[in-house]
Amino acid sequence: DWTMNAYKDDAIDKIRKQVGDGKVICGLSGGVDSSVTAVLIHEAIGDQLTCVFVDHGFMRAGEADQVVTLFRDHYNIPLVHVDASDTFIGAIEGETDPETKRKTIGRLFIEVFEQEAKKIGGADFLAQGTLYPDVIESVSFTGGPSVTIKSHHNVGGLPERMNMKLVEPLRELFKDEVRDLGRELGLPDSFVGRHPFPGPGLAIRIPGQPITREKLDVLRKADAIYLEEIRNAGLYDAIWQAFAVLLPVRTVGVMGDGRTYDYACALRAVTSTDGMTADFFPFPPELLGRIANRIINEVNGINRVTYDFTSKPPGTIEWE
Ligand code: XMP
Repeated sequence: DWTMNAYKDDAIDKIRKQVGDGKVICGLSGGVDSSVTAVLIHEAIGDQLTCVFVDHGFMRAGEADQVVTLFRDHYNIPLVHVDASDTFIGAIEGETDPETKRKTIGRLFIEVFEQEAKKIGGADFLAQGTLYPDVIESVSFTGGPSVTIKSHHNVGGLPERMNMKLVEPLRELFKDEVRDLGRELGLPDSFVGRHPFPGPGLAIRIPGQPITREKLDVLRKADAIYLEEIRNAGLYDAIWQAFAVLLPVRTVGVMGDGRTYDYACALRAVTSTDGMTADFFPFPPELLGRIANRIINEVNGINRVTYDFTSKPPGTIEWE
């Protein structure tokens, strides 16, 4: 549409003016925001841009491959793939406080970007897919007292000592506008329509317990089944975001003629237009039953599935 087309041209102009002949490094998460940021900047300044995909070990099943394929093969945009999972998992092992996890992950991201910037002979700018709601929500809660609800890892600026400046071309946009812009830039529908995924990834979906690779694997499997069933039911596009949460509680169950004592998980799905308010998604009970059965039968380590009926407010979308 013409408004987004005009927005795009304007944004490209601004990026060129801001960056000049400087070098930009852009963190890709596989999400819509960072993908649109990268493609937009690439249109503006071509190979002055280097994209970095940091696998922090908190990605969902198949995510890393999808990103690498889209950027390297489809777009031909140079992409550095960093496997930093040992560093990230090691750093938050044993940590259960949500804000500490978020801040640690945010700090490590910056460190990885700094290292990668060095490798390409220095970068003048760091690009991020910060949206308008990220900016507001990290500052205060609309209508309420001025408190931080969550530190979105991509908001809050860069450490003083850093020489890179921020490029944030989506800072004025809401999610639906970012999707329009993505379409305008020719990103495939399957990518533009993806549910949001938080920067700290699965690390904030294992609340109240030490995070281990085993638990990440268990959660990844449950999450993949859940999303597969949602897609098969034709409901993916009706939902803003859906994901599984691994609960820090084990419960007793019975399978065949044996006793089980395994973890419970919660399923979350919400509708929303901007992520700032949300309603729980009213699944047909039969579908929830089928998903629960599949998860319990197919995922070793989970023997009970619950559904989260909390809207936002008073809940947030993520559990941490
Ligand atoms: P909450 O949980 O605050 O989430 O209701 C609102 C939306 O933001 C996403 N989210 C994040 N996105 N970095 C991101 O890029 C983050 O640190 C982060 N935390 C939450 C969340 O998934 C939801 O779509």
